[in-house]
Amino acid sequence: MINNTTKQQILDTVRIEEVVGDFVSLKKRGANLLGNCPFHNERTPSFTVSPVKGFYKCFGCGKAGDSITFVMEHEHFTFPEALRYLAKKYSIAIEEEAPSAEFIEQQTQRENLFTVTAFAEKFYQDYLWENEEGKAIGLSYFRERGFTDDVIRRFHLGFAPEKWDGLLTAAEAAGHQQELLEKTGLIIVQENKKYDRFRGRVIFPIHNLTGRVVAFGARILKTDPKSPKYLNSPETEIYYKSKNLYGIAQARKSISAFDSCYLVEGYTDVVSMHQAGIENVVASSGTALTIEQIRLIGRYTRNISVLYDGDPAGIKASLRGIDLILEEGMNVRVVLFPNGEDPDSYAKRVSTEELKVFLKEQAVDFITFKTKLLLSDAAGDPIKRAALIRDIVETIAKVPDAITRSTYIKHTSDLMEMSETVLIGELNKILRQQDKKREGTPPPNAGDPFLPPPTEEEFQEHEEPINYLDATVQEEEIIRVLLHYAEEQFDFVDLGSDENEPTRHRVIDFVISVLRDDGIHFTNEAYAGLLAAFSVQFDEGKKYNQQEFLQELDPVVKNTAIHLLTPPYELADWAAHQIEVRDEKTILHKAVIDPIMYIKKKQLGKMREELLQQLKARIEAELPYDELLEDFNSLNQLQAQLNRYTNTVIQK
Ligand code: CTP
Ligand code: MN
Repeated sequence: MINNTTKQQILDTVRIEEVVGDFVSLKKRGANLLGNCPFHNERTPSFTVSPVKGFYKCFGCGKAGDSITFVMEHEHFTFPEALRYLAKKYSIAIEEEAPSAEFIEQQTQRENLFTVTAFAEKFYQDYLWENEEGKAIGLSYFRERGFTDDVIRRFHLGFAPEKWDGLLTAAEAAGHQQELLEKTGLIIVQENKKYDRFRGRVIFPIHNLTGRVVAFGARILKTDPKSPKYLNSPETEIYYKSKNLYGIAQARKSISAFDSCYLVEGYTDVVSMHQAGIENVVASSGTALTIEQIRLIGRYTRNISVLYDGDPAGIKASLRGIDLILEEGMNVRVVLFPNGEDPDSYAKRVSTEELKVFLKEQAVDFITFKTKLLLSDAAGDPIKRAALIRDIVETIAKVPDAITRSTYIKHTSDLMEMSETVLIGELNKILRQQDKKREGTPPPNAGDPFLPPPTEEEFQEHEEPINYLDATVQEEEIIRVLLHYAEEQFDFVDLGSDENEPTRHRVIDFVISVLRDDGIHFTNEAYAGLLAAFSVQFDEGKKYNQQEFLQELDPVVKNTAIHLLTPPYELADWAAHQIEVRDEKTILHKAVIDPIMYIKKKQLGKMREELLQQLKARIEAELPYDELLEDFNSLNQLQAQLNRYTNTVIQK
């Protein structure tokens, strides 16, 4: 048992941000740090770490605790395991009391399995570097393939002797129990016979996130049609294929630093790319990419580049992976290698510089990729072409964010020389079908793209995230005004301009460009859809005609539009908001500007809140804060200015 002095020393030394930071990429937000929660799937960070208090809390799933509970939860450690892990991390020598019977009992099965896999890893490694057979066969194989000694060591590569009991004999001599050897899948037991699973093969140990060995991949050296190229460990209590990515332990720091991750197919691809100096790379190990694997990457970055070797059948089979990445709201690019090449062979053939240029230049978005891939099949065949377009739009429909979807639609329209309106119609049809399917199931934990980090008080008090930017009412108002008056003009003194002369604006031009300039995205699905349609109208520069516009809309959003055009909405709820109802057209500038200003004010409010927190933290820590104060004051001024413009703001 770890004695109390050591326990106290560990507790005094650990820093929560460092402990969590090994697993979660954290960004500074005021006094706290913020990242994507490792305990549930989220797109918008709500996992907060307070260095001052020494604890973490997720505002999405409610998980909270300190350094010890974090590693216990995250690594599935027992309490003593967590203490040992932290002691090791901070190089604290552990003073032990004599282990109690209880402690011995407490040793978990998992821990025992890890002991066996660690033993095997070392056995295979030693065999590669020190044994004559290992050197002559295994090491020379790796060297012939162009792997440097350095990278062979970095990935703990090894060699399994060409014997039935190489590992078995060594493990038993070292006192490992047969039951555990069998449970790790390293030894196969059959009707009183037991033997090594891996024989006469080079070994690729598979590590989990923290770098502990959980499984092995073993490659044959010669081509033998009778036995598979790779043998892999079976799933065990410490190895879940679908949750693991080869190379994640070695790659995670680099993935986080570069904010992007390369996804390859094979062990050798990972090793070769590392050797070429590209370390943000992991492999799905030849199996179909899973949601869990994507989420694992998602803890460190939202950007994935998938690297395919040029085998068309294989590529088509793996297109599902791209859809899965998009469904997670992540960004995906695709790099296709020339036929017959994979990242491993290519990395060996060219210089690091050339490889980097290649990866950069060849990376295309998924639409371009799918189009290139499938267009050759569809050439000159209108039916196949239609199927291709539908295929692409189906993929776009997987993207959770409406604005991103409309960008993809625009891109597809350019690439396929096809009207955006038609594509939007198709997209909305698919979305509607999805909605029907989803009905009855609870909404996914989508997260709100605008959700601000929690303030200190919220950190202590609130359980639920607060949405500062819910502006559905204003979104509706903007769409309503557009539907009625898109083509009308109004006069307005531009905010922030020195002149007092009003400028004349067309409603649609003004609305679309202000929203675009300020990066304002609508959150309500239907209003976002209608806004996208107006956006198309604006880009095409056509004159707005209400009837034509309605005709081209997809039925679902069309209903919303018609709803907004019918009497109860004609004059909005202006009376209820104590705003004098005159002929709306004469106060058009108000109708246009108020809801936009309101949304802008919400954005500003959020920024102000954040600045205030930072300011408080700096003052508390007695750090200089003049610059922040200046920012804060100008933000206040901007807010005051907005308030003057919107002295009759429509309150929510
Ligand atoms: N794989 C496997 N079992 C097989 C073949 C492949 O588990 N029989 C997995 C391995 O993880 C392998 C990946 O699929 O790394 C990709 O397969 P492949 O491209 O054939 O192998 P490479 O890793 O490229 O190996 P090499 O370059 O040595 O041929
Ligand atoms: Mn290969």
